Amino acid sequence: MKKSDAPIGVYDSGVGGLSVLRAIFSQLPGESTIYFADQAKVPYGERPLEEVRELAEGVTRMLMAEGAKLIVIACNTASAAALKYLRPLYPDFPFVGMEPAVKPAAEQTLSGKVGVLATPSTFHGELYASVVERFAKDVQIFQATCPGLVKQIERGYLATPKTRRILEQALEPMLAEGVDTLVMGCTHFPFVIPLIQQISGEGVRVIDPAPAIARQTARVLAQHDLLKNSDHAPSHRYLTSGDPAQFSKLLEKLLGIRDHAEQWRWIDGALRQD
Ligand code: DGL
Repeated sequence: MKKSDAPIGVYDSGVGGLSVLRAIFSQLPGESTIYFADQAKVPYGERPLEEVRELAEGVTRMLMAEGAKLIVIACNTASAAALKYLRPLYPDFPFVGMEPAVKPAAEQTLSGKVGVLATPSTFHGELYASVVERFAKDVQIFQATCPGLVKQIERGYLATPKTRRILEQALEPMLAEGVDTLVMGCTHFPFVIPLIQQISGEGVRVIDPAPAIARQTARVLAQHDLLKNSDHAPSHRYLTSGDPAQFSKLLEKLLGIRDHAEQWRWIDGALRQD
């Protein structure tokens, strides 16, 4: 098989990265993919960055061994924890990571007030501090961690009263301050944009970075001469360290795709297929 026919690896702590996979499907429909959800360890956002970095290294080794030609770390928390270690560790291998979309938000806000929703670990990382320092000089930033929201989305509870309560608690104080632009700084959160939009009203702009990440993936593939150029039908694999049946249910609920998932397990710091 030609290297350019190999799959794009996409990785998140759980189903959040499916919001990025969806954008990759629409931007790069001919590409094969291999998606890994680390559902044995979700949520990452409450774990120390050091621990998340070790997990991300283990996942990277596995995706490389499974033949990925590029890895998209479709998780803000893992990107914050691991990208700056992974790039020098594998200098010839292309990675695409997430960073909270503060730059477009700062360009688009009219009130000069931007809300960022992300996990505690993302807010603690140097990546977030550098994004704020570089792009948010002229705007005021309001932050919320939305405790419990990742778990609700992992259960498929996208519009239950509890999910609404978590979002209201996060959003109401910043909306009262005049925030008019909201950044989805966690890849799980785009799945509750309909509810966020209901709570905030139509006048508030919500920024899902996934389409920009898919475009960046296409650019990086082109730079490395790795864009698929054969007409073999693309294949898609789904792997989880959690419960494959639960993953498949969510895949259907979130992306409308029916497929099975493979069971992988963490054994002594490495991922092994069951
Ligand atoms: N989806 C992830 C992110 O973008 C992490 C969620 C979690 O596991 O806490 O940050």
